[in-house]
Amino acid sequence: MAAATIEGLNFNLTEEHLAVKEAAREFAQTELLPTAIERDTHSKFPTEEIRKMGELGFLGMMVSPEYGGGGMDTVSYVLAMEEISKVDASASVVMSVNNSLVCWGLETFGTEEQKQKYLTPLASGKIIGSFCLSEPEAGSDATSQSTTAVDMGDHYLVNGTKNWITNGGTSSVSLVIAQTNVELKHKGINALIIEKGWDGFVVGKKEDKMGIRSSDTHSLMFTDVKVPKENRIGEDGFGFKFAMTTLNGGRIGIAAQALGIAAGAYELALKYSKERKAFGKTISEHQAIQFKLAEMATKIEAARLLVYKAARLKDEHKDFIQAAAMAKLFASEVAMWATTEAVQIHGGYGYVKEYHVERLMRDAKITQIYEGTSEIQKLVIAREILK
Ligand code: CAA
Repeated sequence: MAAATIEGLNFNLTEEHLAVKEAAREFAQTELLPTAIERDTHSKFPTEEIRKMGELGFLGMMVSPEYGGGGMDTVSYVLAMEEISKVDASASVVMSVNNSLVCWGLETFGTEEQKQKYLTPLASGKIIGSFCLSEPEAGSDATSQSTTAVDMGDHYLVNGTKNWITNGGTSSVSLVIAQTNVELKHKGINALIIEKGWDGFVVGKKEDKMGIRSSDTHSLMFTDVKVPKENRIGEDGFGFKFAMTTLNGGRIGIAAQALGIAAGAYELALKYSKERKAFGKTISEHQAIQFKLAEMATKIEAARLLVYKAARLKDEHKDFIQAAAMAKLFASEVAMWATTEAVQIHGGYGYVKEYHVERLMRDAKITQIYEGTSEIQKLVIAREILK
């Protein structure tokens, strides 16, 4: 559905773009779909599937080949994210965090040594990374960091707790945001690269979540963790700007995830409506269902256009803050609404696990919350409009 309509609008999708989309679709349908319900039921991390995604190049898509990445553009990335997310948003959040927050942040702001040491294995998927900003008392209000990184001369001493960290238990490398100089407020915050296994770094409890249940979400605790100065990203005090700038790009990834969840639910609902009969005809022949399908297709296409626009602006090195926030806001709202409609179209079957749409509905909810809630996206958009 997507390729033809977008091509019709001359979005300049190349053969390569369409090949990436097809490869992601093929992988999602053959490798993720058969085990998605079981992994969701048992909150089982897709270890083998993520390994294969690394081999196929889906974990470092935009990273330069010099550092083991695919050297692709953001449009390729959102095309792949949509296809993977149609089937399994737990796998796609691993992909999104690794690509947008961890790899992009390191490649854009890291030193050559940091790129050689950390980015190269991350981009090839040999290891995966996590991005640690949220805290028990600092979610939307991200400047209120309680985690501290005290400057000890040649290293920082890190203390604090991070919450709801995607890839928390499985990541080998964490990008941790911490306050060094409280008086300087957000200008006194640093971003540090911390390795799993370092003394004082403990992986806390795994969250039992409503959706994206097979992704790995943990709290992380740091007690007197010694972090060498060479593991700071950017200049002293750059950490908050690093987090915000990285999240701008991350929001395009989550917008694409939300789009994929919505489109996946729509595809299932469309198929089901042509098979299921009621009152002597397929339910797709009833106008009540036709109206739902028409509205779903329209809103999903609108979300797709916003996602592609944000990705294109980023690829053209233009300001994409507002576009990314709009894409994330709209696509996540559409995902929640469209998955609910898909469950409704499926009726009783929609409410049981076997038909996938109830999982997609539970998965959709998080897209309105992480990488900035819908309310934060509105705040970001309003600030951009009014500045
Ligand atoms: N891009 C670049 N810089 C930005 C920015 C943006 N979108 N938003 C703010 N900044 C900069 C500002 O320019 C300012 O820097 P200067 O002083 O140098 O000008 C600095 O950041 C502080 O900004 P504000 O004064 O606007 O700070 P604020 O406290 O009023 O608002 C906020 C900041 C926008 C609300 C921010 O706290 C925010 O985005 N909150 C949401 C946090 C979030 O998205 N968390 C997601 C967690 S990660 C996650 O979910 C990953 C996962 O696991 C899937």
